[in-house]
Amino acid sequence: MSELRVQPGAALRGRARVPGDKSISHRTLLLGSIAAGKSHVEDFLPSADCLATLEAVRALGVEVQEHTPTELTVHGVGLHGLQEPDDVVDCRRSGTTMRLLAGLLAGQPFLSVLSGGTQLRRRPMGRITEPLRSMGATVLGRDGGRLPPLAIQGGELSGIDYTLPVASAQVKSALTLAALYASGATRLRVPGPARDHTERMLAAMGARIATREGTVEIEPGASLQPMDVTVPGDFSSAAYLLVAASLLPGSEIILEAVGVNPTRTGLLDLLRAMGADLTLHQECVVGGEPVAQIAVRSAELSGVEVGGDLVVRAIDEFPILAVAATQARGETVVRDAAELRVKETDRIATTVRELRRLGAGIEPRPDGFVVHGPTALAGALVDSHGDHRLGMALTVAGLLAQGETLVRNVGCIADSFPGFAATLASLGARVS
Ligand code: S3P
Repeated sequence: MSELRVQPGAALRGRARVPGDKSISHRTLLLGSIAAGKSHVEDFLPSADCLATLEAVRALGVEVQEHTPTELTVHGVGLHGLQEPDDVVDCRRSGTTMRLLAGLLAGQPFLSVLSGGTQLRRRPMGRITEPLRSMGATVLGRDGGRLPPLAIQGGELSGIDYTLPVASAQVKSALTLAALYASGATRLRVPGPARDHTERMLAAMGARIATREGTVEIEPGASLQPMDVTVPGDFSSAAYLLVAASLLPGSEIILEAVGVNPTRTGLLDLLRAMGADLTLHQECVVGGEPVAQIAVRSAELSGVEVGGDLVVRAIDEFPILAVAATQARGETVVRDAAELRVKETDRIATTVRELRRLGAGIEPRPDGFVVHGPTALAGALVDSHGDHRLGMALTVAGLLAQGETLVRNVGCIADSFPGFAATLASLGARVS
């Protein structure tokens, strides 16, 4: 179980490029697999989660060439070319792998069994198994289908008109993939702006998909054209560097080619509302996704209130927002964020517990947390609980604390941001 030793202080300066977007990388593999031909992917994220998806599509008979860790060719087998896997598919710790695959496999006329590590086997699956059953798939799982492992016997599906109980991109994407195989149209009503990478990619591949405020409509049957994709940098990885540079006095950094899809950039809006100095340059669209260079200079921050749609647009950024809030003047209140309790960890509980070890004034709420800032943090021994986003947030907190911080159990950081410590160090942080 590896550790990161973090020394306080140094301003961050220079330029960096964050690795490819995790959500988009998963989708290049899953959608590339069912395209009619070869897709070429550059700046793929070779993180543990995405490599779980890579192994999974291989287990379904898809050839994937890794020219380098970040450059792939996916030999798509067409909508109906996947093969029955001869063993349990191991999704490791990746919720995106399990949920999106479950949707894809619901449309296949064979049996698949999906499992994963202890952390993933605790995560809720009823949100996908129930609607997939109502489309006609046979899906079994522990606790009546609410927990992994899942056994999926796919086949004849019918389209549905379905309102998602949560604004989840994983659920929306799983049902969209299943809808490609249904006998009629599907309409999904989504109660919030969940990330739309699947819809954008499918539209670019020629699928019959239409999105309107809050709904996605899919007509089945269209063959998918292969794609050439350059994956933008992951905004959710950039988030740690944006917050660190905002908080460490004298910092000035530039992050190249970061994905700034508006369904992902809630933290940008929140940091700006807190007084951060963030500017976007070189804005362009790459493969249907908005991309920009982000420049950050340190600034004095104030507390902020977060709720409603902003929660969905910043869903992965709450551990690092909590760190920012510890240094902001006044109170930060997060509400409407009960989903955080079913992420890689219960992120309300683990964020509160670990930030308190560093001296933060933070209290849990059933659907969020309250931070009283600013507080001087003091270096301490903290633990990621096997949650990559908490591990990175604690590392940034360590940069702000007096004295040394030791972050334990940081192997999980490679689930989304391999090279995190090296990137921070290249900007001047003392992390080893
Ligand atoms: C993801 C969707 C989000 C997010 C996760 C990645 C995706 O999960 O938290 O990190 O790639 O679709 P939910 O759909 O559970 O909100």
